[in-house]
Amino acid sequence: MGSNSLAGRRAFVTGGSSGIGAAIVRRFAAEGATVVIASRDLLPARALVEETGASVVQLDVTDLQAAHDAVTATGPFDILVNNAGIDQHAYFTKTTFADWRQLLAVNLEAVFATTHAALPAMQAAGYGRIINISSEAGRMGSRGGSVYAAAKGGVHAFTRSIARENGSKGITANVIAPGPVDTPLLRSGVEQYGEKLLESMKASTLLGRLGTPDEVAAAVAFLASEEAAFITGEILGVSGGMGCGL
Ligand SMILES: NC(=O)c1ccc[n+]([C@@H]2O[C@H](COP(=O)([O-])OP(=O)(O)OC[C@H]3O[C@@H](n4cnc5c(N)ncnc54)[C@H](O)[C@@H]3O)[C@@H](O)[C@H]2O)c1
Repeated sequence: MGSNSLAGRRAFVTGGSSGIGAAIVRRFAAEGATVVIASRDLLPARALVEETGASVVQLDVTDLQAAHDAVTATGPFDILVNNAGIDQHAYFTKTTFADWRQLLAVNLEAVFATTHAALPAMQAAGYGRIINISSEAGRMGSRGGSVYAAAKGGVHAFTRSIARENGSKGITANVIAPGPVDTPLLRSGVEQYGEKLLESMKASTLLGRLGTPDEVAAAVAFLASEEAAFITGEILGVSGGMGCGL
């Protein structure tokens, strides 16, 4: 931490005021980056802004034009982290069209909009780091999370396509696929479904525990650094080995 490996870099982080996103913002700031947090609500971002010196833009990422405009208005950026996400615990036949639209809008469509806005400046600069936060569900599937898994799987294919189109321009695009990480998102599922869900999540990892937001942020910071220049189109599980072998 604090190695200044991101000094002089400008980063845009969606959903940056909570959980994994907030840990990424802290880590980027500690490494010397200038960070813009995109947050649905300004209030939860306020303390983080004071703590890290980041700035904040209010954004509901499901408004694709607003997401596009937020990036162009506050850019250019060297680093784009698409982290905002929502999940749902429901068997597929219990899901509705409205659920699908909402899950796809936040987890997948927003990624299109911010990437579309960030790429031209990265291409002109001949440098860029795009890191999309998906989930092990995106490659393993998820019992009780089929729509979420489909959206995250879409993020994987999209990221690899962006990596293919932009490798010759000095831009890398990678996915971080977390396993169960102790954040408000995970805790809301546990509140709804009880400690049994928590225990099954821990047991799904080879390490038998939840991950921390800082453990995810460390991997994101590495992929965002110049040192990771030869890594692109990858899906890196930060999941206690949950997806090992995939
Ligand atoms: N926590 C886990 O166990 C886990 C596991 C796998 C993947 N992930 C992924 O990690 C990412 C971060 O999740 P987290 O666990 O930190 O959850 P979190 O709920 O703490 O944070 C998610 C953030 O996304 C923001 N967000 C949601 N909808 C938004 C919208 N419409 N517009 C703008 N912002 C919006 C929230 O406000 C919040 O800041 C998500 O993409 C999630 O799918 C988390």
